[in-house]
Amino acid sequence: MAFTCVVGLQWGDEAKGKIVDVLAPKHRYIVRFNGGANAGHTVVFEGKTFKLSILPTGILCPTAIGVVGNGVVIYPPRILEELAQLSQGGVEALDRLKISNAAHVIFPYHFEQERLSETSAGNGEAIGTTGRGIGPCYEDKASRRWAVRMGDLGDERALLARLGPIVERKNKLNRALDPQAKEFDAAVLAREYFEYGQKLKGCITDTQTLLGEAAKKGEGMLFEAAQGSLLDLDHGSYPYVTSSNSSAAGIWSGSGFAARKLDKIYGIVKAYTSRVGGGAMPTELLDGPEGIGERIRKIGREFGTVTGRPRRVGWLDAVTLRHTARLNDADTLCVMLLDVLSGLKELKIAVAYEVDGQRITDFPTDSAVLARCKPVFETLPGWSQDISTARQPADLPKEALSYLARIEELVGRPVGVASVGPDRQQTIWLKSKDGP
Ligand code: IMP
Repeated sequence: MAFTCVVGLQWGDEAKGKIVDVLAPKHRYIVRFNGGANAGHTVVFEGKTFKLSILPTGILCPTAIGVVGNGVVIYPPRILEELAQLSQGGVEALDRLKISNAAHVIFPYHFEQERLSETSAGNGEAIGTTGRGIGPCYEDKASRRWAVRMGDLGDERALLARLGPIVERKNKLNRALDPQAKEFDAAVLAREYFEYGQKLKGCITDTQTLLGEAAKKGEGMLFEAAQGSLLDLDHGSYPYVTSSNSSAAGIWSGSGFAARKLDKIYGIVKAYTSRVGGGAMPTELLDGPEGIGERIRKIGREFGTVTGRPRRVGWLDAVTLRHTARLNDADTLCVMLLDVLSGLKELKIAVAYEVDGQRITDFPTDSAVLARCKPVFETLPGWSQDISTARQPADLPKEALSYLARIEELVGRPVGVASVGPDRQQTIWLKSKDGP
């Protein structure tokens, strides 16, 4: 059994869930290690559509055990809602779910704190967050004093004792920013969250030991990264990033699994680029309502799963991909949504940037520099035919194969998969006939 990682190489929404779905049956454990309900995954399973944001999408596989690791921040009602959604769709997951007792808990005051920090940010300084309390919860985790972990939900008295000073402080801080800010009551929260803890009692455990022991027995594990590597707190387009390590770097800290054991890292890449929220995006297509950007947005249904916001779209950017493929040490690239590009006469790929009179090929760490970067494009011929029925490499037009080959060259990693539609069958394995 293998230890596998599926990680996004762009700004999220690379359709990682589809590759997880394909790979999940070969693994016993499917593990989330970062982020929270800011991730949005629409998964079609046996003809039914599920919208998951906190549970690992691989939990849909009936033989898998889903693990929510210590690096995830959890809004418990959301977990219960997703479990109910699965149950209504005929998937019983409660008995197959393990939640780290060291994962941090999101409370309603985190939502309020996030709203206030985004609305009070100066012009152009808002990060454009998803409003799910993610950043404030990680801030509290790092503070060590003002945080609550899943393992704290089992004793109502102790929880109230912990929440008392936290809630008092949160109310004060939120009111200082906005006198109209919502106030919270520690006793009400302690009761509510104790009840969530009771409902999830059978799931909350020491997942670091669980995974460590399972690894010893050689049981397969699939690590499912949320967001994309360019949103990684340390290695992304800081400060326009999320608050966790959304690259494979987060596995070790966010699950306790010794990541050097990983056998294979799949780097998931959309055939173009998309981004939600603020921050620079050098290849963004801003060509108006009749332009290529709008066309890709419509055909690719580029609207956020969590917030519904239209995603910004642009040409593929090899500068960013080189950076994230190296960061994750991706073994294989999976190029998703290739079918969305059908019908375009020409395709562009950014091969370098020009900034302050210089040509650069490395992704800049300074967001102010990134904002000044102009892409240097290479143009490739497009293809006109519908490729959604292609099942083998030979079914793809030569222009599509050249596009994939050029990505391979520019990024310096093999392209193992091309995806030409949401269905599992619409997956073309380019290097091996039978898949992974
Ligand atoms: P936060 O994670 O809600 O704090 O948002 C920080 C930034 O990450 C914003 O630009 C969000 O739009 C972006 N973001 C967070 N989660 C996702 C995701 O799953 N897909 C794409 N962008 C995301």
